[in-house]
Amino acid sequence: MSALPRLPLDRECPMHPPKTYARLQANEPVARAEVYNGDKVWLITKYEYVKALLGDERFSAVPSMPGYPQLSAGVGAAALEERTFLRMDNPDHDHYRKMLTREFTVKAVQRLSPRVQQMIDGLIDDMLTKGPPLDLVPALGLALPSMVITLLLGAPEEDHAFVQDRASARINFNATPEQTRAATRDLLGYLEKLVTEKENEPGDDILSRLIVTYGRTGALSHEEIVHMGRLLISAGHETTSSMISLGTLALLENPGQQAALVGDPSLADRAVEELLRYLTIIPFSTRRVATAEVEIGGHTIRPGEGVFMLTPAANRDPEHFPEPDRLDITRDARHHLAFGYGVHQCLGQQLARMELQAVFATLFTRIPTLRLAVPMAEVSFRDDSVTYGVRALPVTW
Ligand code: HEM
Repeated sequence: MSALPRLPLDRECPMHPPKTYARLQANEPVARAEVYNGDKVWLITKYEYVKALLGDERFSAVPSMPGYPQLSAGVGAAALEERTFLRMDNPDHDHYRKMLTREFTVKAVQRLSPRVQQMIDGLIDDMLTKGPPLDLVPALGLALPSMVITLLLGAPEEDHAFVQDRASARINFNATPEQTRAATRDLLGYLEKLVTEKENEPGDDILSRLIVTYGRTGALSHEEIVHMGRLLISAGHETTSSMISLGTLALLENPGQQAALVGDPSLADRAVEELLRYLTIIPFSTRRVATAEVEIGGHTIRPGEGVFMLTPAANRDPEHFPEPDRLDITRDARHHLAFGYGVHQCLGQQLARMELQAVFATLFTRIPTLRLAVPMAEVSFRDDSVTYGVRALPVTW
């Protein structure tokens, strides 16, 4: 039997990464491991090395490259169908990403901020009207990012549930390749219709602007616009949703931190960076395959070898975050790697930050007595998905 660690490793505590990461970081920051089918991969756990390799364009993000590392057959099949810049290298990556950057600048996000605040206020009004106990995941965690992404794409709000269900199915480790392919097909079919509608009658939304600026000049095909819409749904939905629910739980589990935020809601921006660091909810997306020989930490990574740049480990590196296992919303955690690093660093990070800051500043101010409605041991965690999170979060006040 092989003695190599096999990804994904189990967590001993749901709020912390597997303990093996810290052990590797201290003793073997560039280590070997294996994945579901026995393929060998490299695990990088030290902050410096993770950052260096993510910024190194000798590594490819293209899943069809031989040796590209995968976590499960199903998620691998979904990645192979990816036709967007998330899974492209330069120069193609930059060519396509540039078409979306102006939609996610600080300025563009600031313009959206009053609408997002209204949405949050409305959702919390509904929670208060309904009364406790309730599940925070559908009430706020999932509801807000769904509303925001449908607003951005100009999609009908009533399509939330369908979009959410199909987007989740694509990234479940236990799904078969047939299941993830079917989920991708459903989402593409849905967007196909939406994009066709907007081609006939453009509105004030991202898809329409892509159609008018790039579709009509021939710079983007109909199919490419469909795939970009699919990427935005997948990337912007479950991620922010998980951060809202799991972030709330982390604060409820650390009452001193919750009290500090209630006492000073202007701490929300620091709190969000710290929660992003502490939770690092996208643990495995930063995986690549080497296209050249690369020396790191006394090891040589050879072309065609797969590498997991483990951001959850890097974000707990004591050399960069003293007492890394402590949630401290007053620390300056802005240099965390929860949004990745390098050319693929999260395009939607300013939007995610704005949504999260507004949620945490508002939620704990309006419901300062918010608490878990069940013992922590009864909270069910979603550990079978590319996005880590909770399945439900029963709260009361
Ligand atoms: C890329 C995390 C929210 C759009 C990424 C990557 C990470 C990440 C780690 C890099 C993946 C890689 O290197 O392979 C997160 C987290 C979020 C979040 C933790 C919420 C808290 C969003 C939102 C949007 C978005 C709201 C847009 C609506 C994207 C896109 C990419 C990306 C388009 C691909 C960038 C590229 O390849 O150039 N995200 N994300 N994300 N994210 Fe996010």
